[in-house]
Amino acid sequence: MKMDVLQVLQQFSPIPLDENMLEKPVHAHLGDLALPCFPFAKELRKSPVVIANEIALAIEHPLIRKAEAVNGYVNIFLNRTTITSALLQKILDPSVSYGSSNEGNGGIVTIDLSSPNIAKPFSMGHLRSTVIGNSIALLLEKNGFKTVKINYIGDWGTQFGKLLTAYRKWGNEQEVQQAPIQTLLKLYIRFHEEAEHNDSLNAEGRAAFKSLEDGDKEALALWKWFKTESLKEFQRIYDLLGITFDSYNGEAYYNDKMEPIVKEIADKGLLIESNGALVVELGEDMPPCLIMKSDGATLYATRDLTAAIDRKETYDFVKSLYVVGNEQSLHFTQFKKVLGKMGYEWADDIQHIPFGLILKAGKKMSTRKGKIVLLEQVLNEAISLAQSTIETKNPNLANKAQVAEEVGVGAIIFGDLKQHRKHDIEFNLETMLQTEGETGPYVQYAFARAKSVLRKAGDIQPYSVDDVNDFEWAIIRALEQFPQTVKRAADDLDPSIIAKYAIDLAQTFSSFYGNVKVLSDADHLPYRIALITSTAIVLKEALRLLGMKAPEEM
Ligand code: ARG
Repeated sequence: MKMDVLQVLQQFSPIPLDENMLEKPVHAHLGDLALPCFPFAKELRKSPVVIANEIALAIEHPLIRKAEAVNGYVNIFLNRTTITSALLQKILDPSVSYGSSNEGNGGIVTIDLSSPNIAKPFSMGHLRSTVIGNSIALLLEKNGFKTVKINYIGDWGTQFGKLLTAYRKWGNEQEVQQAPIQTLLKLYIRFHEEAEHNDSLNAEGRAAFKSLEDGDKEALALWKWFKTESLKEFQRIYDLLGITFDSYNGEAYYNDKMEPIVKEIADKGLLIESNGALVVELGEDMPPCLIMKSDGATLYATRDLTAAIDRKETYDFVKSLYVVGNEQSLHFTQFKKVLGKMGYEWADDIQHIPFGLILKAGKKMSTRKGKIVLLEQVLNEAISLAQSTIETKNPNLANKAQVAEEVGVGAIIFGDLKQHRKHDIEFNLETMLQTEGETGPYVQYAFARAKSVLRKAGDIQPYSVDDVNDFEWAIIRALEQFPQTVKRAADDLDPSIIAKYAIDLAQTFSSFYGNVKVLSDADHLPYRIALITSTAIVLKEALRLLGMKAPEEM
């Protein structure tokens, strides 16, 4: 509606108006929008006070209830009832999902997300990648793109040679079966410890990886088993998070597809020998991109180049996103540059979506030696904290276990997404789970409260909007912002915009709920049911876009 008002005002302005020129008055009683007339004074050769007076007198439009000139500003009071009726009708229309757009026009976006490494714990970084990537996918879908979520499993590389060597020396089957990731990680750590004073171990590890690359049956069988067991553990986390993928093609998938790509790089005259290895030079200010080691082993970058080309051929994406931590920025800049040098114009459509660390008491939450934080344990702790809150607040709730899961997991997702992804985030379960403040449970709670009023008030009936009080108007103004908020979040690939919006709408609703006696005012009830239903729809949709559930009761 801001744009509509802008259009009305344009006819009085000697210069083109843009959205930013229309301000929000400091106090609500001064109106909904304010137009400062100072920028027009020179052109019109009149004082801003005179101009404001003239506009206020002349303006007339169904969206505008009245206009007042104050000190060179035109303060505009919108026609609340007209706007409210139109908006509620739009949100309640079951044939369109409010806030959706077709901006993406069905274009395909591939999203590389989660991508944990097998035989290693699922780290906090992988959690961030998973929830950020998933929300970005949901946002893009809402804006008319088709998304392909790719879990590029880290299941290839020299480390698997080390792991095979360690397992053959010190491993045993039962232990791996009982606690796969923990056992494999221990073996891997032991390998590194022993390799410090045993040189031949590293050579053995390299040889083992070579045999894996060459397709040695026994080596492959072991590797496959490690992979299956690891994926089982990861799957439990994905189930908890409620996240699915369209492809699990990881690094190993590209093992037999790299040769032609390396050849292509060479044919294009880009492959240079440097200290025995093959590299692509990227200029003065960037280290070269390593393509092949002296023993013929391929690297992380070789696989990513191959995967990028494969994704373009398979999906013909309009954009290819990689949700991976800040620390890999150089890698992405490098391989994008290589693709550009190879002549692929679509290299420009590749975008690294970096994010910061998760900190605990100011320190990186690490998955290294000794102090492993197992993500599954963290999730389960959040769920049990949510469960105990439910036990005290609402002991008679049906399906307590499910609600606890939705709240516990939601709290972690929201705690991550509410800040811009580039920031490091402080991880504190107690804070994330509070039902007051800027938390996931707070937003979920607002939704559940809305649902509870609706259960008591009954279904939507015919209604008319006769007057709109300040509390209701604040909700309407927030609801009206939803489509442009969704668009901005998708354009910026920034879920935190939705999280902040959800907080704002939840707060606005809570203040309405605390101040307006809904159920005892029969005259306004039908209209307020429509208003609360609309609020519930938008709150639930905002939560969905973050990858969260909205329990009906909690
Ligand atoms: N497995 C990698 C890691 O854990 C992340 C992979 C990211 N995706 C990619 N295409 N490189 O660090």
